[in-house]
Amino acid sequence: MENYEDFISTVSHELRTPLTSIRGFAQTMLNSWDMLDDDSKKKFLKIIEDQSNRLIGLVENMLSVSKLQSENNKFVYVQTNLRQAIEPVIAIIKNAYQNHSFILNCSRNVPDIITDKDKLQQIMTNLIENAAKYSDDNTLIDIDIVPAGEFVSIKVTDRGIGILPENYNKIFTKFSRIDNPLTRKVQGSGLGLYITKNLVDRMGGRISVLSGGGQTTFEVLLPIRNVEEQARVRCNQ
Ligand SMILES: Nc1ncnc2c1ncn2[C@@H]1O[C@H](COP(=O)(O)OP(=O)(O)OP(=O)(O)O)[C@@H](O)[C@H]1O
Ligand SMILES: [Mg+2]
Repeated sequence: MENYEDFISTVSHELRTPLTSIRGFAQTMLNSWDMLDDDSKKKFLKIIEDQSNRLIGLVENMLSVSKLQSENNKFVYVQTNLRQAIEPVIAIIKNAYQNHSFILNCSRNVPDIITDKDKLQQIMTNLIENAAKYSDDNTLIDIDIVPAGEFVSIKVTDRGIGILPENYNKIFTKFSRIDNPLTRKVQGSGLGLYITKNLVDRMGGRISVLSGGGQTTFEVLLPIRNVEEQARVRCNQ
């Protein structure tokens, strides 16, 4: 969706849906306060909270998209230990998805890589959050890190609803969500993977997905980069 008018109309729609529901539930509470029991009030406030979170997520994602397109979005390459960078990301997501199990396997021969640590954490947040969002409670999500030639391979595997091969390309485009009962239940703007792929590409990496046999795996390959290459990357920024 590169057309500006399409973009505006999609964004307006995405903003209007949660706003309409926030206004509706706020009005219902104001107009019928005395007739509502505590449980209903709590339920309505929860909807208002969820929809506000959805708006915040959407605005944050849209800011990331506009940053991707701006010249000022500089990448800062530093020596990064993958386990140390990814552990805190898992801890934050675990907090929101307490019934999922997350297992991080980082093989011992994985070297530190020279990369932008914040952007790496943004990539991992999107992938691990999706893995949790599109799978049931009490299922396992593993994150496996192994060396792969001049790259390191980071795989995020879930046992969730899966993705059909005909949608493998579509999910990386702007505002794309695959319609099914579970995606309808969970919130999302369809921007996460678009942002993720852009970041991976700009960091000289690759991202791919494979789904089947009850498992879905997103793999990110990031270049290890030695010190000389690091200097070259800096000069070209
Ligand atoms: N691990 C996964 N398993 C199944 N489907 C997935 C998975 N990850 C992504 N998808 C599908 O790809 C779509 C796009 O994902 P993406 O992360 O870009 O957007 P989102 O999760 O809907 O919203 P957000 O912008 O908040 O991340 C999702 O709506 C979902 O249909
Ligand atoms: Mg997402």
